[in-house]
Amino acid sequence: MAKNVGVLAMDIYFPPTCVQQEALEAHDGASKGKYTIGLGQDCMAFCTEVEDVISMSLTAVSSLLEKYNIDPKQIGRLEVGSETVIDKSKSIKTFLMQIFEKYGNTDIEGVDSTNACYGGTAALLNCVNWVESTSWDGRYGLVVCTDSAVYAEGPARPTGGAAAIAMLIGPDAPVSFESKYRGSHMSHVYDFYKPDLASEYPVVDGKLSQTCYLMALDACYKHFCTKYEKFEGSQFSLFDADYVVFHSPYNKLVQKSFARLLFNDFLRNASSVDEADKEKLSPFLNLTGDESYTNRDLEKMSQQVAKPLYDVKVQPTTLIPKQVGNMYTASLYAALASVIHNKHSELAGKRVIMFSYGSGLTATMFSLKLHEGQHPFTLSNIATVMNVRGKLKARQEFPPEKFVETLKLMEHRYGAKDFVTSKDCTLLAPGTYYLTEVDSMYRRFYAQKPGDGISENGSIANGQIQWKTVKSQ
Ligand SMILES: CC(C)(COP(=O)(O)OP(=O)(O)OC[C@H]1O[C@@H](n2cnc3c(N)ncnc32)[C@H](O)[C@@H]1OP(=O)(O)O)[C@@H](O)C(=O)NCCC(=O)NCCS
Repeated sequence: MAKNVGVLAMDIYFPPTCVQQEALEAHDGASKGKYTIGLGQDCMAFCTEVEDVISMSLTAVSSLLEKYNIDPKQIGRLEVGSETVIDKSKSIKTFLMQIFEKYGNTDIEGVDSTNACYGGTAALLNCVNWVESTSWDGRYGLVVCTDSAVYAEGPARPTGGAAAIAMLIGPDAPVSFESKYRGSHMSHVYDFYKPDLASEYPVVDGKLSQTCYLMALDACYKHFCTKYEKFEGSQFSLFDADYVVFHSPYNKLVQKSFARLLFNDFLRNASSVDEADKEKLSPFLNLTGDESYTNRDLEKMSQQVAKPLYDVKVQPTTLIPKQVGNMYTASLYAALASVIHNKHSELAGKRVIMFSYGSGLTATMFSLKLHEGQHPFTLSNIATVMNVRGKLKARQEFPPEKFVETLKLMEHRYGAKDFVTSKDCTLLAPGTYYLTEVDSMYRRFYAQKPGDGISENGSIANGQIQWKTVKSQ
């Protein structure tokens, strides 16, 4: 059986177009600080009319294969997580097959997984399970999380974002699963859903979604601790986690979630809460579960008590989610990418606890162990390839009016046929894919911006990619 299965390599793509939350706040007439301090967000990426979840995932996958020098024939499973519906039947995975078909590889299992922000985790668990199973044929798995999070005008709009992440899966990985330690919680609720198939926007009960998230966190943590304790024979506490990575719809919820885990540790009498902090939390000991989700004093006190640990175990995971916004399925993995970006040289031997949440609802907490790895699959090479700082710096800030105008255009384009885009890819980095046309039969056509060793031959006709990738010698 394959050992230390997990993430060998990663790449992230987010659109170069973004809006500052401070500017959006003023534009929306929200009180100063509501989006930046209240929600804890700095900036939000969004797709313009030339980008979508398919183009972003084409970019992320082709970039990963090229930068880690992976032969496309070596991919045996490809799974996509997304909740951005472009086609109710044809999977995003099939669009990505164009990359592999031209190398003669059509023997690739896997399709798309959908349940709000959880689809990427479902895809990842499927791939890891495949590599660990008797069905594994020795080739790599590939997981893609791709989403464009957009909301109708109103309080949820600043919690949008967009990105695609590609992760190569295999044995002896620098980011490996501690597969025995997993806790899930799945339930039927209407906190966020997309019943209107004519619109890209969700129906969202924001307050309910916050409570559902925290309840799912409690349940997953309980199951996770029980399993850990069964195998390890000792109690789990937050001291056993070097980093805690949360699905991040907006940073304030991440702050509250970590504080909630510490409150759980307090209730479990775990070692992470010292005597002084126990005293501070003791007035809340007898709250019922329901009361504890709405008690503002508890929220404040637990955040205050958790702050020193939050700064060490969570803050390094928050860079990309705060700068790019909610990327739905990619959000959790962008938080993982943030800690690799920030701390890659000191991560070997560390444990990362991941919490994945998808409204509706599905949630899993799982554990990762980090290792130095072997070139090109090392933590420092992953950090170099992702080039997070460079990508953030290269972005173009749009004024809020232009952002709103773009969303209006996208509303008209959603589900539409028979249009060509501006094909304006001046803001896109070389090698980025972009949408050129949707024809009278709703077929989507993409091209790749030339440059960096890629030849100028970017059109895709009848769903067949026509471009050539010319590697520089
Ligand atoms: C999250 C969401 C409900 C917030 O919208 P809202 O109800 O208008 O926002 P609130 O009035 O609660 O304000 C948000 C926060 O900013 C704070 N705030 C408001 N104005 C502020 C200001 N001027 N300065 C600083 N903080 C401010 C509020 O106190 C609140 O913080 P708290 O949660 O610690 O109390 C909304 O953005 C949403 O629905 N998002 C999508 C759903 C989602 O992401 N759910 C997460 C689970 S998946």
